[in-house]
Amino acid sequence: MTSDWRPAPNIRRHPEVYERENEALARDGRLDVALREVADWRGRRLLDVGCGTGFWLPRYADASSVLGVEPDPDLLGAARARVAHLPHVSAELGSAEHLPCEDASFDVVHARFAYFFGAGAERGLHEVRRVLAPGGVFVAIDNAWTHGDFADLLRDAVGGNADLDPEATAAWWRAQGAERLDVDAGWQADSADELERILRIEFPAETVERFVARRRAASLSYAMALFVVRG
Ligand SMILES: C[S@@+](CC[C@H](N)C(=O)[O-])C[C@H]1O[C@@H](n2cnc3c(N)ncnc32)[C@H](O)[C@@H]1O
Repeated sequence: MTSDWRPAPNIRRHPEVYERENEALARDGRLDVALREVADWRGRRLLDVGCGTGFWLPRYADASSVLGVEPDPDLLGAARARVAHLPHVSAELGSAEHLPCEDASFDVVHARFAYFFGAGAERGLHEVRRVLAPGGVFVAIDNAWTHGDFADLLRDAVGGNADLDPEATAAWWRAQGAERLDVDAGWQADSADELERILRIEFPAETVERFVARRRAASLSYAMALFVVRG
């Protein structure tokens, strides 16, 4: 198996809170509407790269088949348990750089906040192109940084850190021939306390404290960027 993946601290250390985070995004629903428009999976073969604990896999159940690929063995175990009752949905060990899939075997490939963060992701994108069938579509979902509460949090947390440069990421995607589609979505948590718990697995404590002092609510606005590559 691959040794080139990087553990994701948010979901790995706090899988239960990450589940709430995904629920808050799912409840808002606007990201899924946009994904359906750009790459509808109904009746098609879908691959979810870096599927984590498999939160989204059952939500693709109207695809003809669904495969989640995940390099972290602990998260993979959770994903497999989640979809065990769904005969056309499964999860396998692998990474973006090493997909356990035949050439041209998927119509739709998604990567949600996984691996594809700009420069350095060339190998993974090469693999995705290999497994995309002619006419297929790949969508990488990332933070937009342009506006909204989540972008404010990102900027507050990152400061001058050159590692996370949204302009460089966008330029990298343009160089790969990707289209960009911006989506105004949000999180809708159960309560302000729950939203704060979620924010604490994503951002430093002082960033979260500044944010909740300014704006204490159960929801936040979240601008996302979809990078779309057609096979
Ligand atoms: C922030 S989590 C998102 C999980 C899932 N996509 C979701 O939205 O619930 C990032 C995921 O990417 C996985 N990952 C890390 N390196 C990877 C790689 N090289 N290829 C594919 N996935 C990777 C992590 O193990 C983790 O499951």
